[in-house]
Amino acid sequence: MTKPFKAGILGTGSALPEKKLTNAELESIVETSDEWIIKRTGIRERRILNDEVPLAKLASDAASKAISDAGLKPEDIDLIIAATLSPDYLTPSLSCSVQKEVGAVKAAAFDLNAACSGFIYALQVAQEFIRTGTYSKILVIAAEALSRVTDFTDRKTCVLFGDGAGAVVLGRVEDGTGIESAVMGAMGEGGSVLTLPCFFETETDRANRNEGKKQVIWMDGSEVFTFASRIMGEATGKVLEKAQVTMDEVKYVFPHQANIRILQNASKRLNVPMERIYTNLEFTGNISSASIPVCLDEAARKNMLKKGDKLVLVAFGGGLTYAAALLTWSK
Ligand code: ACO
Repeated sequence: MTKPFKAGILGTGSALPEKKLTNAELESIVETSDEWIIKRTGIRERRILNDEVPLAKLASDAASKAISDAGLKPEDIDLIIAATLSPDYLTPSLSCSVQKEVGAVKAAAFDLNAACSGFIYALQVAQEFIRTGTYSKILVIAAEALSRVTDFTDRKTCVLFGDGAGAVVLGRVEDGTGIESAVMGAMGEGGSVLTLPCFFETETDRANRNEGKKQVIWMDGSEVFTFASRIMGEATGKVLEKAQVTMDEVKYVFPHQANIRILQNASKRLNVPMERIYTNLEFTGNISSASIPVCLDEAARKNMLKKGDKLVLVAFGGGLTYAAALLTWSK
């Protein structure tokens, strides 16, 4: 049997809408306060996509940057996977719209939904195509317009979410770098604690939402919080064990950016100081699947990542889903 190819990140890109929604502005929309939001979540502001701009535009901006950062042309891409739970359309998929917008004319394209774990799920699916040699240059995008599925009369959720897009190009890398290990999992029996109905709704879904609101996120925040605090440690432990790497060898952890208190819990459970846990949620809020690739691109642009650095990516989200990956930076 021939040895599988190793997959690694060749380039990163991200795009955030210009429009900011601050805690002070939210104070005039719902009964809340800047002090409560910062203390309970760590978020100061989030970005909001203008109504007339499709999410595909933001996703394409991130994708184009990732392609050029990888030193490639759009025609070099042979597959596009877009992770999202808030696409412009169910069909055409977000990935097809990005293919058209960036001119990746030779690429196959499909979307994947694993809520906030979507980017790491997509990375693992892409990795398998690289390992087998089916494709060699894969664009993995995660993009969300959560402001379009947020109920701005529900203070328990509207202070949390924002919009944004991140992308990476995954390709073959030399031994000693790239994705070392990965896990993904789901606990469907807990799915009712975080819902976003599409074409169907139950009495409970209706009861949980304000009058007339259907396609908006409802969440039992404390249940999600408990799940997140436990699963981040467990998933991280699994990828470290699989790769026979210790936490001391890991330079940074890139967690899903949901709430600073969840990250502080993870810091204690993993015995990693907060300086090694990358955070940007103060200025982006929770952008679901997009949060990790946006962080990765930010860190890369700040020159924080060097070839050979070991990084853990870890996420949890609706479904319920979770995923983690350990990678050695390849660029
Ligand atoms: N402003 C002021 N008060 C508020 C607000 C607000 N924005 N939101 C809730 N409160 C109030 C509540 O009404 C409650 O008041 P009560 O005791 O009088 O009923 C009180 O604050 C405490 O509410 P809790 O829900 O217990 O607050 P908690 O400390 O748990 O924080 C939060 C809520 C921030 C939502 C937290 O539970 C959390 O972050 N959970 C995780 C969410 C998450 O990570 N989601 C990720 C997945 S998202 C995805 O997949 C799309």
